[in-house]
Amino acid sequence: MRTVRDIKIFQNIPIVVRTAMNVPLDHGEVANIFRLKRALPTIQFLAERGARVVLVSHIGEAGTETLAPVARALGRLLPNVTFFGETIGPRVRDQIRNLLPGHILVLENLRRNKGEVGNDPAFAKELAALGDIFVQDSFDTCHRSHASIVGVPKLLPSYAGFVVAEEVRQLKQALIPTRPSLAVISGAKFSTKEAVLTKLLATYDRVFVGGALANDFLKAAGHEVGKSLVSSTVSDEIHQLLGNHKLVLPVDVVVATTGDLLAPHRDSEKRVVTIDQIRKDEVILDAGTRTRLFLDALTDDARTILWNGPLGKYEDGFVAATDDFAQVLARHKARSIVGGGDTIASIEKLRLLSQFSFVSTGGGAMLDFLAAGTLVGIEALG
Ligand code: 3PG
Repeated sequence: MRTVRDIKIFQNIPIVVRTAMNVPLDHGEVANIFRLKRALPTIQFLAERGARVVLVSHIGEAGTETLAPVARALGRLLPNVTFFGETIGPRVRDQIRNLLPGHILVLENLRRNKGEVGNDPAFAKELAALGDIFVQDSFDTCHRSHASIVGVPKLLPSYAGFVVAEEVRQLKQALIPTRPSLAVISGAKFSTKEAVLTKLLATYDRVFVGGALANDFLKAAGHEVGKSLVSSTVSDEIHQLLGNHKLVLPVDVVVATTGDLLAPHRDSEKRVVTIDQIRKDEVILDAGTRTRLFLDALTDDARTILWNGPLGKYEDGFVAATDDFAQVLARHKARSIVGGGDTIASIEKLRLLSQFSFVSTGGGAMLDFLAAGTLVGIEALG
């Protein structure tokens, strides 16, 4: 894979960089700069060599958000950052023409234009017209067949940025784990995790399935899961995976009746039950005590640990098992590779980021890369 180090001429060259600026906002301001900090080395590398750096990204799913606050946050980390509230067209090209060497221009949310998600060739052409060179540094989006991921590299000489190059190196290594190895995978929707689970069951010694993903497995195994979040259909494939001796499921869970859902602090109304004691009116909220101890014991033995996804309903405040596991893993000497939005939220909140061997910027992209060993956006770089 060609990286930014292979670019021959930088001085005064307009370089379009697809950057991971899809960051959480709170009251219109950036709530978390993890991805922005990781984006800095590529931007600095290009700016220091006199390129005119044009940053493009999406933020949010719907295309309604603006990147203006992200540009402000980036401006606190780097000099000479400006924002322009359009993405393509003659006025954007004018801005780029006037950009000084080494300066950085952040353009508006790519998803404001339907051509981004639809990978419209006309939109890709407009994006490509913004520079002479394209740099892909948004690993988190490399699993999407969008215009800025697979369209633009067909039209411009294209290179990987430092984030993408490092993700590929680290995650390839994660597919050859030192044994004993443990993978911990969670998240909703079995259908989107089936491929990675199949791959990890072939590669790792133990694969623990937690969170909402475990609900699908418990249901397929014939357990009552009450009103817990489950996939609408349970496929035959899940039964095949259930038969794999490497698969580890929770043995007990924290539950409450649905009325208690918004009150994570009301401990008295939660029950810790074994997986055959869940009632029809209950919701699974978190991993139980015995499950957590068992997971800690598996971790103790492991020399490589891969983790993506919270162990409970993290977004609703049921964070205990996830935070506890983050702490256990941070103390452990094993090689640790972690990723996923809520997983990173947990380890950042606990100030443990530096305690892991590698923290991926990808959520779904990390899982898809592990499943296939590549992504459409990586392939597009040739
Ligand atoms: C992410 O946060 O996982 C990536 O930025 C991709 O975002 P998306 O799921 O909206 O495509």
